[in-house]
Amino acid sequence: MCQATFDFRLYDFQTKKVMKLTLKIWRQKNAQDKGGIVEYPIDGIEPDMSFLEMLDVLNEDLINKGEEPVAFDHDCREGICGMCSLFINGEAHGPDRGVTTCQLHMRMFKDGDTIFIEPFRAKAFPVIKDLVVDRSSFDRIQHAGGFISVNTSGNTIDANTIPVNKHDADKSFDAAACIGCGACVATCKNSSAMLFVSAKVSQYALLPQGKVEATDRVLNMVHQMDLEGFGNCTNTGACEIECPKGISLENIARMNREYLAASLKG
Ligand code: SF4
Ligand code: FES
Repeated sequence: MCQATFDFRLYDFQTKKVMKLTLKIWRQKNAQDKGGIVEYPIDGIEPDMSFLEMLDVLNEDLINKGEEPVAFDHDCREGICGMCSLFINGEAHGPDRGVTTCQLHMRMFKDGDTIFIEPFRAKAFPVIKDLVVDRSSFDRIQHAGGFISVNTSGNTIDANTIPVNKHDADKSFDAAACIGCGACVATCKNSSAMLFVSAKVSQYALLPQGKVEATDRVLNMVHQMDLEGFGNCTNTGACEIECPKGISLENIARMNREYLAASLKG
């Protein structure tokens, strides 16, 4: 049976022009490999494609040519999971604001552009392969205190039985929007994780349910952050600008207050 193949990439749906680009991508075989930038020309990119879809097109081409596809992290592709983690033209998650790499569209670029694509770089985020970095340091910080203990056997207390004022609930909700992507670390000249850790501390510190373990939480999470090799915060504010979830610097101020109070108790 004859099957016609149709290349959607080269089809102009709404008189939208496809783009030709030059990609300069960090390739690194493994953690030990020195790595380097490799140039790839790419054609037929639609403005409405997401950045990751553009990389899918490149990888299809590489596979068809018998070459190794570019390794990059992704999962939900809708700004929820925090897996995508590219440094694009020198910016974490690329040139748009308030979006993750998977939500970045190719209309942010123009025909003929050269795009540099690198992994999130930090001592505490070692490169595993190509654009994939190991962010398990964030998991270990979470394990050190980013939780509350609730007895779920027998009659669990309905959350609504504990009153929380609207202002605190909203602030806690804003802090809980952090998806743990690591853009704040990759952006910071000191590779500081303060915005991430402060969001995780704040989301509990603002709620009555988080008060029980508050002292241990902030001490343990900050201790783990230091053990992982993240740098210090010097208040440049770059993290807040590049954060796709709009996590505010006020969380860092809150965490510092929590840390001081916890240290004095100890
Ligand atoms: S604070 Fe923002 S940039 Fe940092 S991990 Fe959370 S969502 Fe990502
Ligand atoms: S792939 Fe889940 S946030 Fe980008």
